[in-house]
Order: sequence, then C-alpha cells, then structure tokens
Amino acid sequence: MRRRLIAGNWKMNGSREALAELDGIAAAAGAAPDVDVAICPPFTLIERAAARVPSLPIGAQDCHAAPNGAHTGCVSAGMLVEAGEKLVIVGHSERRADQGETDAQVKAKAEAAIAAGLIAIVCVGETEAQRDAGEAETVVCTQLRGSVPVAGGDVLVVAYEPVWAIGTGRIPSMTDVSAMHAAIRADLVDMLGAERAETVRILYGGSMNAGNAADLLAVPNVDGGLVGGASLTAAAFVPIIEAAAG
Ligand code: PGA
Repeated sequence: MRRRLIAGNWKMNGSREALAELDGIAAAAGAAPDVDVAICPPFTLIERAAARVPSLPIGAQDCHAAPNGAHTGCVSAGMLVEAGEKLVIVGHSERRADQGETDAQVKAKAEAAIAAGLIAIVCVGETEAQRDAGEAETVVCTQLRGSVPVAGGDVLVVAYEPVWAIGTGRIPSMTDVSAMHAAIRADLVDMLGAERAETVRILYGGSMNAGNAADLLAVPNVDGGLVGGASLTAAAFVPIIEAAAG
C-alpha cells in the first residue's frame, strides 16, 4: 500500500513572515499520520523552515546534478541535505520551459538527489497544444522514460502535471487523469519491473485545491498531490491534507 504524499511547491513565493503558515500545516500533518506532507520553499527559506517545524519534511524545487564545482548560481543535492532537506522536485515544467532543462538533465538531477539521500519528485506533463493534438500520453511517457532514474520505493516519486492546468484553475477530467496515471504506472512497470513500480507514488499536480482534492485523490493510481498556489497558506493547504487523510 502506497502512502499518500501531499507536497507543497511554493515556487518563487514566500518570505520569513510566510513561514508562520508552516505551523498550521505541520499541525495538520501531525493529525494525519497516514499521509506524508512536505513543503518546498525557495532555497533561502529552507534552513529556517526546517528549524521552525522539525516534524515537517522540507524540500527544494531543484538541484544540480554535480556534487560541487564551477556552476554559478546552482545548489547541489548534498548542500540541500546539509540544509535539512528531505526531498527535491526536479524537472518541473516551469524549469523545463524557462531554463530549457532536458529529460537527460532531469534524470541526472534525480539520480544525484537519490544518491545524496533525498526523495526525488520527477515532474512530467503535456502542454495544451500537445493534448489537443492527441499526443498527451506519448509526450508524458517519453518524458518519463527520459527523466526517471532506475530506482523505486520511497526515493522516487513521479508528478503528473499537465502544463495547461498549472496555476489556471483548470484540471483534466477524472477520466483523463485516470488514463494518464494508468499509462504512467504501466510504463514504470516496464522500466522498473512490477514490484518496484508498485512502490512509486504518482502525484497529480495542477490547480489542486480544497474543492477538487478529494475527487482527484479518489482516482486509481493518484497517490497524492503536488500543490502550488494552494500550498502558500495553511487555510488553503490544510483541507487538501485532510482530503488525503479522509
Ligand atoms: P498550481 O501549481 O497548484 O498552482 O497549479 C502546481 C505546480 O506547478 O506544482
């Protein structure tokens, strides 16, 4: 049985004052012992966040594939571990679009993260044009095969995030979510073998909120959520944790 994971992605949002939101989030996480909850703030808030709520796993939104070296502006997985991190998001569509990250780079980052002892959340997802062209499953499964390292269990998480659903308030139909998560699971079985593939959690991400979380989490193979906007406040995020616990 896979434990549900609800992970918040603060993106380039948050401040020291905003860390007060973590108190309510950590309390809700404590009241939901069967659900894993995590928050991924910007790099600059990681150490403070980890110190403020030691019971709540804190994650990052990216890491470099190399352990150290001449990579101005980058942060390695080992540095994240030292800062108190437990997990890291890699290959988010905003990084694939803004920084031109390729599947091979995403895979190298995920491998580095896992080697350093972090859980890697590998993101995949199609654009609206790709879905309209009937290419969504092909695009997502190609990303998956190129970006997912050969690892299973708790260390590997896949997040299906349709690009057109991120921050838009729109979500796919439950039928489409179900079909995509089943396709991802089938590909994971092919890549990792059935036993390992069954242990990998597949999150849904893209406009998940208090109103739709219960429906999304009831879809087979949806093992949790990667939540952007609705993770910024305890008021918005706690109902999603409760839906996962419910
Ligand atoms: P959203 O973002 O919940 O604000 O749509 C999700 C994500 O990009 O991870």
